Parts: sequence; C-alpha cells; structure tokens
Amino acid sequence: MTQQWQRICALTDIPTQGARAVQLGDMAPIAIFRTTGDRVFALDNRCPHKGGELSHGLVYGETVACPMHNFKIDLKTGQALAPEQGQTACHSVEVRDGEVWLARS
Ligand code: FES
Repeated sequence: MTQQWQRICALTDIPTQGARAVQLGDMAPIAIFRTTGDRVFALDNRCPHKGGELSHGLVYGETVACPMHNFKIDLKTGQALAPEQGQTACHSVEVRDGEVWLARS
C-alpha cells in the first residue's frame, strides 16, 4: 500500500518532551511525540492497557509513561516495556525543514 505524506505542524509546535494529538480523517487519533534531541515518533493516542491518552504522558528518552497507570511505552516500537505487556500502533513520521510530516497508509 502506498504511503501518503501529510504535513502536520512545525516541529516547534510540539513541546520538547511532550506530544501533540492529531486527528486525520477517519484514522484513529494519533499522538506525535518530540524528544529532547528533536526526534519525533507517532503512535496511536491510546494506551494498550486501558486506553489512556498517551499524548498527555511524560516523555523521557524515547519512552512515554502513560498518564493513567504509568505503563511505559517504547516510542520506537509502541511496545509496552516489561513487566507490562501490550502494543500500540506506530506510524511513520519525519521532520523535513522544521516541519513534521506523517505518513498515512
Ligand atoms: S491506561 Fe495506560 S497504563 Fe493504564
């Protein structure tokens, strides 16, 4: 399936060590995270535990801690870190000239 890239916002619109929630058409809500090193990651904005909004979580390193019950989710894979279990969907995202682009598949 071909990916269509869509501009989302400026990188600076996402707080460092924070996230921005976006809704694109009929896709599930997505959280785009920004690390201290200005890397960006995109996950479904839904914790694999009980659906907490990951965009409200605390970002540290390349991990987000869910604001509900503190599951730690790897931003690179969407995988809950042990001892927890679960997976949230990852999306392709990149920064081009200071703008954040997300791939829709
Ligand atoms: S809903 Fe995320 S840890 Fe429970």
